[in-house]
Amino acid sequence: MGIRIIGTGSYVPDQILTNRDLERMVETSDAWIRERTGIGSRRITEAGTTDMAVKAAKRAAEQAGIFPEELDLIIVGTSTGDCLFPGTACEVQAAIGAGSAACFDLSAACSGFLFSLNTACVYLESGEYETALVIGADTLSKTVDWSDRGTCILFGDGAGAAVVRREESAGCIGPFIMKADGSRGECLKCSAVPLRNPFLDKQEDAFGYMAMNGQEVFRFAVKTVPEVMEAVLEKAGVPAEEIQYFILHQANERILSSVAKRMRQPVSKFPMNLERYGNTSGASIPILLDELNRQGKFNRGDKIVLAGFGAGLTWGATFLRW
Ligand code: COA
Repeated sequence: MGIRIIGTGSYVPDQILTNRDLERMVETSDAWIRERTGIGSRRITEAGTTDMAVKAAKRAAEQAGIFPEELDLIIVGTSTGDCLFPGTACEVQAAIGAGSAACFDLSAACSGFLFSLNTACVYLESGEYETALVIGADTLSKTVDWSDRGTCILFGDGAGAAVVRREESAGCIGPFIMKADGSRGECLKCSAVPLRNPFLDKQEDAFGYMAMNGQEVFRFAVKTVPEVMEAVLEKAGVPAEEIQYFILHQANERILSSVAKRMRQPVSKFPMNLERYGNTSGASIPILLDELNRQGKFNRGDKIVLAGFGAGLTWGATFLRW
């Protein structure tokens, strides 16, 4: 028995926010943003995380050729659900008609899709479930302080999804490694529900914005991502040279090329779409996976590494054979 991705889907909102638009909002320039990040534009939604997740999910289910009732499990990797409860996965279940699926959200910021995929695979491997829908969806535009040029240039909204199935095949997902260091949580943080109750002297009435130490996050990513990818390749017993694609969280072009250099692998093996979408957090890996899949880039048996990193701090890598 193997576990395979049998369908992918993605959705990005229509509204485009370019670097030129940002020039009118904060002191920055298209040239600076492109040089320091590789980002040219990003998408912004008015509709919210569930709406995008549902659209991506429907496309993945259609490509997989499954009926929603066949889904045993739905996990949504998100840190920006529209509601604190119910979870986004429950809302997706209702919207697509997957009434018998177990549903929950997983909060691991930009590592959210990767950690959700790994979690789904453990359930499938246990034999308990056969077919899972894994989604990464985020609306970071609602957490960004649009007057902070250090963060507002980086992020965008979107959703991506994959249908994963246990079946008779040579495909596999895993081994994987998931890491976290909560002691460094402050360097990328967004507080949520404010304290509001009659027993406090001080009432908080606003949600916090995202705050980030960009340089620290940069250093964290370029060190830990190559390490965790090398560790997962060693676990898989596969040399880096045999990998067709390293599909990484799309945070910054300089991070990705530095990782490629440290791995002594050509940057052409590190596909990127961040020029168009910026950093879409939990959605970035599945959006890219879906784009490559629909472009026919994957062949059966291709060896691929996925790697994510983000707030927590969290990071990890997964080996998969398509
Ligand atoms: N436009 C113009 N200038 C800017 C700017 C902007 N949008 N943002 C910062 N600057 C300025 C700074 O104020 C600083 O000016 P100073 O030298 O006069 O003090 C200068 O540019 C350099 O700032 P610095 O923070 O050193 O820039 P950087 O090269 O580290 O780039 C980031 C900043 C945020 C692009 C970069 O640190 C980064 O991408 N970090 C990783 C963030 C990330 O990926 N987070 C999500 C992870 S999931």
